[in-house]
Amino acid sequence: MNIITVKNYEEMSKMAAHILAAQVIAKPDSVLGLATGSTPIGIYDCLAEWCKNGEVDFSKAATVNLDEYRGLDHSNDQSYYYFMNKHLFSRINIDPSRTNVPDGTEPDPEKESKRYEALIQELGGIDIQLLGIGHDGHIGFNEPNSFFDKETHCVDLTEMTIEANKRFFESIDDVPRQAYTMGIGTIMSAKKILMVVTGADKADIVAKAFYGEVTPEVPASIIQFHPNVTVICDEAAMSKIPE
Ligand code: PGA
Repeated sequence: MNIITVKNYEEMSKMAAHILAAQVIAKPDSVLGLATGSTPIGIYDCLAEWCKNGEVDFSKAATVNLDEYRGLDHSNDQSYYYFMNKHLFSRINIDPSRTNVPDGTEPDPEKESKRYEALIQELGGIDIQLLGIGHDGHIGFNEPNSFFDKETHCVDLTEMTIEANKRFFESIDDVPRQAYTMGIGTIMSAKKILMVVTGADKADIVAKAFYGEVTPEVPASIIQFHPNVTVICDEAAMSKIPE
């Protein structure tokens, strides 16, 4: 794994945005696997700015997002589709019909999981998958488990994730209890992985996930086995790595 330490959030964002922009410049019809959460917002700000300046052209690109809350539709301001549209899609010249997020309103988990996997295949697979990491080591909504989930599926969110995400909702009771997420297998089938991590509160999980053993108890640890991974961490997130 290529683990790069940068000074702070701004440097992390810029470097990751450069990697994504370079991907689209080199291959305009790239399939970008994207992520929500606080961490990627700075990356999306950079991409929006560079697109506006004419430095990157997203007109031929496609996107697939990692996950979506079950039960929330696109117009719900807590849905991940809404987040992506606000922070990126509406600010770049991408064709909205080529932006994809799991459909939280599909009541049949099996149907939605199959549809999403087939869609990724039809697009030709993911060229680069952007990832953040949860405090418990989750990627997408793949929570600590006794096995690695292969494909897109419906998950029950853990108390830790519900607690971490309640800041975006009026009350903890409003946080959805389930989500659709790409599986670990879906993520690992991306040609490249780009992981971004910021902040001292992620230092323990960085040490565990990238310097510890590979285990489904720490889902992100699996990326140690991917052949093309770049992890960009700020100094605070790297503050507890073993000597
Ligand atoms: P965060 O979320 O970027 O808001 O910390 C990361 C994640 O839970 O995957």
